[in-house]
Amino acid sequence: MLTLIGGAAVLALILFFAVRNYAVQVAQQGQDTILDASVTSMLDAATIQDGTVELDLPYAAFSMLATSADDRVFYAILRDGKFLSGYEELATAGNFLPDSPVFQTSQIRGAPVRTISASRTLIGANERVDVQIFLAQTQDALSETLDQISRNAALLGVGFFTLAAVLSFWATSATIGQLGKLTTSVTRRGPQDLRPFTKPVPREMVPLVSSLNSLVGRLDQSLTQSEDFIAEAAHRVRTPLATVRSYAEATLQRVDKEENREAMRSMIKAIDESSRAAGQLLDHAMITFRADHLERDAIDLTELVSDLAQRLAPIAEMKDLSIALRGDPHVPYSGDPVLLQNAVRNLIDNAMKYGPAESSIEITVSGKPKPQIMVCDHGPGFPENEIETLTTRFQRGANATDSIGSGLGLTIAQDVAMAHGGGIHLENRLEGGACVTLSL
Ligand SMILES: Nc1ncnc2c1ncn2[C@@H]1O[C@H](COP(=O)(O)OP(=O)(O)O)[C@@H](O)[C@H]1O
Ligand SMILES: [Mg+2]
Repeated sequence: MLTLIGGAAVLALILFFAVRNYAVQVAQQGQDTILDASVTSMLDAATIQDGTVELDLPYAAFSMLATSADDRVFYAILRDGKFLSGYEELATAGNFLPDSPVFQTSQIRGAPVRTISASRTLIGANERVDVQIFLAQTQDALSETLDQISRNAALLGVGFFTLAAVLSFWATSATIGQLGKLTTSVTRRGPQDLRPFTKPVPREMVPLVSSLNSLVGRLDQSLTQSEDFIAEAAHRVRTPLATVRSYAEATLQRVDKEENREAMRSMIKAIDESSRAAGQLLDHAMITFRADHLERDAIDLTELVSDLAQRLAPIAEMKDLSIALRGDPHVPYSGDPVLLQNAVRNLIDNAMKYGPAESSIEITVSGKPKPQIMVCDHGPGFPENEIETLTTRFQRGANATDSIGSGLGLTIAQDVAMAHGGGIHLENRLEGGACVTLSL
């Protein structure tokens, strides 16, 4: 924009000087034409009689020189180069040039004047006489006109400049504005958002946007492929593992030797661990996919959590755990029920896993200030120094060495919360036990 405005300023200056220069020329030509006509009519009036030059100054010669500014007129008449009449300083100031008429710009009595000199040869009975006339006029009216023309030219220049500045502002903001909008929409995108850009852009930017879109498309495709691959791989591992586990279980029944039984139990534990990890991987892939294409259904969070609690109650009972549901009776929300159930399930799983037997798990669902689900237990709580990192993928705490797990549970809960525009918060209660708050 500055370049365009700078260019407009230079053009406006050039315009100003060009117009003024032209006006000066035209005005000067006008004055010269009148001076010429005037001096010609004076020369016409000159006669010679018996060797004497006679000149009756014609009234018209002066009246045609009248101006609005009352400019003064000077004249000098010479015979063969000798001063006869008029202002002598004019005759000496202007130098005689034989080719007539000659125009000059000079000064008389401190005022700038335009001077013409012209001559005529008079032929008498027996002589030839050269009559020369100098005629000068001050330039007050002319400079007044020029001042006016300069003012108008300056106004024209300023107007031209303003118009050009407005136009360049408009032109630049029209182009840069579109680029800025595109930049904002690229910047505002979440890390998971790989949809193509569909907002209309000027024709010049279409190639940029389409190459951006094709890049995003390829990225999306390769991400989907790797998610698919993980899901497929996890599924293929989980199925045979289930078979192996049932064989191991059956074998355990038949083995009597204590050391063999111990080996079988470790084997079953390792199998459980692998299939749990495969299941979590599958969940994680599913969640990444669904979070990308988040569906928002109208649901009741309290209802969703109590359904889940009921389904998990038998598993909890095996460990003599009870699940208590508190909070608002109805919390309407719009979100993906599959994802939300999966997230809460992981939190309850953790509470059952890390909480001591014969205790209770407390779940609080609240709608204000924002929709929240809090899962608390009476276990040892999170290892204080690891609390920041436990939501990272595959990160397990120091307290988890004896239990089966993959380190993906909190990651899944966090991904789900973030897909719904929220997050999770881990804390240890003062009275003991861990609390995870999932806010949406
Ligand atoms: N309720 C809890 N009480 C104590 N520690 C917990 C609790 N929930 C999670 N943790 C800690 O956070 C870690 C990460 O949890 P998670 O991502 O669910 O993985 P996993 O349960 O498979 O180990 C766990 O390994 C454990 O150390
Ligand atoms: Mg877990």
